[in-house]
Amino acid sequence: MTQAPVNVTVTGAAGQIGYALLFRIASGQLLGQDTPVRLRLLEIPQAVKAAEGTALELEDGAFPLLAGIDIFDDPKQAFEGTNVALLVGARPRTKGMERGDLLEANGGIFKPQGEAINAGAADDVKVLVVGNPANTNALIAKAHAPDVPAERFTAMTRLDHNRAVAQLAKKLGVAVTDIRKLTIWGNHSATQYPDIFNAEVKGQNAAEAVNDQAWLENEFIPRVAKRGAEIIEARGASSAASAANAAIDHVYDWVNGTPEGDWVSMGVPSDGSYGVPEGLISSFPVVCKNGSYEIVQGLEINDFSRSRIDASVGELVEERDAVTKLGLV
Ligand code: NAD
Ligand code: LMR
Repeated sequence: MTQAPVNVTVTGAAGQIGYALLFRIASGQLLGQDTPVRLRLLEIPQAVKAAEGTALELEDGAFPLLAGIDIFDDPKQAFEGTNVALLVGARPRTKGMERGDLLEANGGIFKPQGEAINAGAADDVKVLVVGNPANTNALIAKAHAPDVPAERFTAMTRLDHNRAVAQLAKKLGVAVTDIRKLTIWGNHSATQYPDIFNAEVKGQNAAEAVNDQAWLENEFIPRVAKRGAEIIEARGASSAASAANAAIDHVYDWVNGTPEGDWVSMGVPSDGSYGVPEGLISSFPVVCKNGSYEIVQGLEINDFSRSRIDASVGELVEERDAVTKLGLV
């Protein structure tokens, strides 16, 4: 071990994503094989016992990088000194429910968590919101953490990004590693826009390689955007291991940097780029370096992409207006 343990807080630790996530964090996949971690788990009181059970199993993993585990039911304590905060705990969408239905139920969770991050997190804290509706939950948490730089609040669209890479690779019969520069724009919801016009396949423009607008509009975009619902329908529960995998990818790249010549998708506070209203947490193409990220600038946005981006951003504006009315931001 070459450094002091990094404090990683995971909310919803006893949930299904938590179960898939914690062992991978303990094994070093979140931050890297040189970085010991101390886990701080947050649960609601009724689920603390289950979190304790997971902690027993973590102990049984004898993970060399795991420096300790503490379990809390109080956000103030759970976020004390945290360097990486994974806000997973929320109410998952169940069959027939739209993500918007969850705004009010989840708003109450992310306000006190934002306050607790503001009060006690480490100066370098990085926050990833996974719990849905992720973008707007991140907006709520950010609004209650005025002393934390806004750009530290991010929302997860990496699962959508990974889904889009996989579907495109399948269509073209290439490896996922042959695909670069794919972008998810907007909201982590059915309005999201997976953009292949700026993506590359083995160096060739991906939209040209596909050359099939009907597939793009009628298969690829809806497949990616509604994949969460497809998983719920098939599994009877929302995605868990793939979501945990995406959370690992998001934080790993944020901390360790994105590969040269590629970018990833992250929900981040808009600086007004690409006409997205400033402050909204919207998904953009980003490159990460030295522990921070920048929105990729200067991409050409064609009319088709423009209308899709505008629709998803419009939904984010509606969500922001709804939580503003509820007094949550
Ligand atoms: P789950 O119901 O299995 O677990 C959620 C856990 O959160 C439960 O153990 C619950 O007790 C806990 N919890 C609830 N309120 C809490 C609070 N205030 N503080 C701490 N813990 C709290 O759900 P899951 O399948 O693990 O999913 C978690 C969230 O992630 C859901 O909102 C789901 O929709 C979302 N999700 C997002 C993505 C994405 O790509 N952004 C992907 C998959 C799932
Ligand atoms: C997903 O994309 O799998 C999750 O956000 C679950 C959902 O509600 O779609």
